[in-house]
Amino acid sequence: MVVNMAENFIDHSYDVVVVGAGGAGLRAALGLAEAGLKTACISKLFPTRSHTVAAQGGISASLGNMGKDDWRWHMYDTVKGSDWLGDQDAIEFMVRHASEAVIELEHYGMPFSRTKEGKIYQRAFGGMTTEFGEGPPALRTCAAADRTGHAMLHTLYQQSLKHKVEFFVEYFAIDLLMNDGECVGVVAQCMEDGTFHRFAAKTIILATGGYGRIYFSCTSAHSCTGDGGGMVVRAGLPLQDTEFVQFHPTGIYGAGCLITEGVRGEGGYLTNSEGERFMERYAPSAKDLASRDVVSRAMTLEIREGRGVGKNKDHIYLHINHLDPEIIHQRLPGISETAKIFAGVDVTKQPIPVLPTCHYNMGGIPANYYGEVLRSGDDTVSGLMAVGEAACVSVHGANRLGSNSLLDLVVFGKVAAEHCIKSLSQNNKQIPKLHANDGVQSVQKINQLLDNQGEYHTADLRLEMQRIMQTDVSVFRDEKTLKTGKGLIQAVWQKFEKINISDKGMIWNTDLIETLEFENLLIQATATVDAALNRQESRGAHAREDYAERDDKNWMKHTIITIDEKGGTDISYRPVKDQPMSNDIQSIPPKKRVY
Ligand code: FUM
Repeated sequence: MVVNMAENFIDHSYDVVVVGAGGAGLRAALGLAEAGLKTACISKLFPTRSHTVAAQGGISASLGNMGKDDWRWHMYDTVKGSDWLGDQDAIEFMVRHASEAVIELEHYGMPFSRTKEGKIYQRAFGGMTTEFGEGPPALRTCAAADRTGHAMLHTLYQQSLKHKVEFFVEYFAIDLLMNDGECVGVVAQCMEDGTFHRFAAKTIILATGGYGRIYFSCTSAHSCTGDGGGMVVRAGLPLQDTEFVQFHPTGIYGAGCLITEGVRGEGGYLTNSEGERFMERYAPSAKDLASRDVVSRAMTLEIREGRGVGKNKDHIYLHINHLDPEIIHQRLPGISETAKIFAGVDVTKQPIPVLPTCHYNMGGIPANYYGEVLRSGDDTVSGLMAVGEAACVSVHGANRLGSNSLLDLVVFGKVAAEHCIKSLSQNNKQIPKLHANDGVQSVQKINQLLDNQGEYHTADLRLEMQRIMQTDVSVFRDEKTLKTGKGLIQAVWQKFEKINISDKGMIWNTDLIETLEFENLLIQATATVDAALNRQESRGAHAREDYAERDDKNWMKHTIITIDEKGGTDISYRPVKDQPMSNDIQSIPPKKRVY
């Protein structure tokens, strides 16, 4: 550690710096440290508070512990779930490595639930089928009761400690340090004492999670502000497929907390105000276990058509009160507690009030399946990688299947570490030397923010943005709502120039960080609304009422979007990779997506 007095930076040097300590970040960090690389992990949260902790239902892998299964069926389901926007090479890579990833977690000590024979317990999840969609639902989602993410995160953190990853906890990563198009480090602020730190590294891996907090109601933690996406955009690099935002069918009405899809996997079902199990009409085969976008749209239509439940007929009921209380106790203890606390219901006796709630970002930082960040086409950014929800690989395409996200974290976290180890040793790359000026601009921006005497406060502008997104860029969209949303988000950019984070004479120590997070959110809200306005078709989670059909001829392509410092955007496209990576299997051609 060197204190650079000129700019009051504290300088650090590492082989690799991972930003973010959720499932993907920890899996990458422990792989690097295990191989002997000097590895730092910077996190704005204590690692076991990262949002992976909130994942409930499980991690998908065709282990076949509780019925016949095959990775090829998993691949088919994932391609179909993605509404043919997922890249088939990356999807093949993920599902082929799924079983070994789960077994590795088991060997790391992850406390999975067990079958009577002692195998890892697996449950049904939406869109997961057998026999290429022709057979019964697959029991593919490996679970630790309904606290799978919690179990996984603690397991990976323990392994990271074992392998001596060096943690910088409650450090907020502000900007990437770029030199001639190459990433040479990252500048961060210690949230405890306000000191600025520069980390020089051969490779920076962004594992900063999603940006669900652009919406008013979401299952995402307050910390899900897409800080990696913000940094990438400020470095002049693009984002990909930002219009595809997943709404989980069962967020608790009014609170937004997640009620796992595992509830429906265990036999739970949805009803409208007439007590009808309406999913039978929308998805005759899969019913309540159709893909998330399909269920969320069906619920929204039921409410719109006057069949919502409750005083205002504005939500839906989710039932598990018909299940054996012992099963609920064993397999769904977490949601029983959540439903009691946040909805006041006893799930063994009453239905849970639920509503589609923003849950996941399919879009993010464009990356290949080694985790290398893409500048354009297949051209990579030297020194920069991205994994997990922060990245868009793209294995989820236009709609992610439940339990494929925990899988994505560990498969791509692991391969990113392996690829990084290999390429650093092949190239004999040295830790870059930072210039005196590196990071100075970021500090100057912060000082300017603190000096600003404008009229708007971060919390008010954030709420304004969240309400705009909730109203105008929701489960259903059309040109009118999206144009309105775009205009209103542009107005928020103008107000952001007149932000005031210090006019009360005293700054809470979170005010500055929340403002930096808000800038990251605003960038990604802009990317979401603008990309959604541009895409004139419906595909997966992007449901345009004015372009109701999927249009493979014109739109089977990924959105690539850059955003300037005033919120202006530039959009281009790149083709979907519709061929698998190996030649022992065939491409899955597009067809109508019915469940
Ligand atoms: O419903 C759930 O348990 C969420 C899982 C996921 O998003 O993968």
